[in-house]
Amino acid sequence: MISKRLNKIVGFIDEGHDVADIGSDHGLVLLLLSKKGFKANVLGVENKQGPYENLSKTVKTINKPNFQCILGNGLENLTENYKTVILAGMGYSTIKSIIEANLDKIDFINTFIVDSHTNQDEIRRFFVNLGFNIVKEEIVYEDSIFYDLEKFQKSNVKKSYTDKELKYGPINLDKKTEEFKLKYNSKLLKCKEIIDKINNEKRITELKREIKEIEDILYEN
Ligand SMILES: C[S@@+](CC[C@H](N)C(=O)[O-])C[C@H]1O[C@@H](n2cnc3c(N)ncnc32)[C@H](O)[C@@H]1O
Repeated sequence: MISKRLNKIVGFIDEGHDVADIGSDHGLVLLLLSKKGFKANVLGVENKQGPYENLSKTVKTINKPNFQCILGNGLENLTENYKTVILAGMGYSTIKSIIEANLDKIDFINTFIVDSHTNQDEIRRFFVNLGFNIVKEEIVYEDSIFYDLEKFQKSNVKKSYTDKELKYGPINLDKKTEEFKLKYNSKLLKCKEIIDKINNEKRITELKREIKEIEDILYEN
């Protein structure tokens, strides 16, 4: 069964623009887009032989001319038609290095759909500093893991964000979905457990500050 996380990622994609899925692995995003009858071009990109072979098999199964794949590194082979780029299932440092290696490509990339498995706040800060706005966010809970999905888009009107918004996500803060509450209630529990186990006063003060911040967010009206 294809995951809730990947279904949500596909749900973030707008019709009508060519899409590149960087780090496609088995090409499940391509498969989902094909099943939806996606009409624009979709390119799966893999930089490792094994995953590329899996991806190729999926592209052969899909068997539609608008679904293609390449063995290549990050954004380097993208042409100007690929306005939407997906970077999912990687950590912040990999995502950052993929973009920084081909920074010129953001002249034409309009939308990034990102599922980073680490450093959510750094991810938001990074894309906002590149000139993108945060237009969609969702937290998905699957297999006992919380995934933070983000859609970043360029706009003529560049928004500015507070540190709190960059840390928790402006849309997450606004919506406070059940998954958001679940994620931060479990974070509260973890912080409290750590406090009970340590003697480091500085760390305890930091954790207490974090607990207060999260409780204010969860319990404010
Ligand atoms: C954990 S998998 C994620 C697969 C899928 N995107 C997902 O979200 O389930 C990460 C994939 O990214 C690929 N990858 C890592 N760095 C890459 C790069 N610079 N260019 C292309 N693919 C890359 C890896 O080979 C790996 O298959």
